[in-house]
Amino acid sequence: MKDLSVDNLLGIKQLNENDINIIFETADSFKRVINRPIRKVPTLRDITIANLFFENSTRTKLSFELAQKRLSADIINFSAGSSSLKKGETLIDTVNNILSMKVDIVVMRHPLPGAHQFLSRHIDAKIINAGDGTHEHPTQALLDCYSIRERLGSLKGKKVVIVGDIMHSRVALSNIFALQKLGAKVMVCGPTTLIPKYISQIGVLVENNLKKALEWCDVANMLRIQLERQDISYFPSLREYKTLYGLSKPMLDKINKDIIVMHPGPINRGVEITSEVADSSNSIILDQVENGVAIRMAIIYLLSSKINRI
Ligand code: CP
Repeated sequence: MKDLSVDNLLGIKQLNENDINIIFETADSFKRVINRPIRKVPTLRDITIANLFFENSTRTKLSFELAQKRLSADIINFSAGSSSLKKGETLIDTVNNILSMKVDIVVMRHPLPGAHQFLSRHIDAKIINAGDGTHEHPTQALLDCYSIRERLGSLKGKKVVIVGDIMHSRVALSNIFALQKLGAKVMVCGPTTLIPKYISQIGVLVENNLKKALEWCDVANMLRIQLERQDISYFPSLREYKTLYGLSKPMLDKINKDIIVMHPGPINRGVEITSEVADSSNSIILDQVENGVAIRMAIIYLLSSKINRI
């Protein structure tokens, strides 16, 4: 079996192009499995996985759980709202208590950037980052790139624009790293106030005009405005944002080519994207969700081969 160069999935930054291709090839096999009449394999019968969600999630949590069930792993689930964290327990104590129940892999979402890196220095279980604050969301970026690869064959030389709230988005940063490692050209588009100043220094193009960005790209990845992470106002009103950066059918019709439209979810219909576009033939939003299960099966499978119980 081909081996990943990492023992944990902390972020896309730590992966190389070969790692990403190994994950994609493994996901290809698992995609065939989940489309068979019997959608389950016994591969991870002896593996126990803890899903630790210190922040809300719908897609990522369900997708990881389904991936684990399809691989026949044992699962325990934890969410911060109902935990002893509220009684003052530290992250390391919480995780070590869970690990003493003989857990092999931890899938964690946490609001603090770097929480997974910190945890990896203190525990032996394999760690998969399901989102750390505004930092990285590696499995989302992998499923996004896998979905583009499925449509366009390869990422090399493809032009991808990420539109919206780049400043507060872990999806944007992980996508930028993954797309660049796979040879795609990356642009971000949005109001200047929502684009980090460092972005052009990491080889990303910046465009404030959505029409020009759409004319340039093969793929548009539309992001949600993350109001829950904004402590000040970054633009005058949602109405103005929608007028300047919302993707609508008339705007798609104005550009003279067929582009692929993506969204990591959750969608705010009528703000960053209209329902007409989200549900159109340009959209691969539901393919992204389907591919998320195969990608997460691949990552869990590849990291499980590195578990050392001796
Ligand atoms: N795309 C994504 O991370 O969605 P959730 O927050 O619902 O997991």
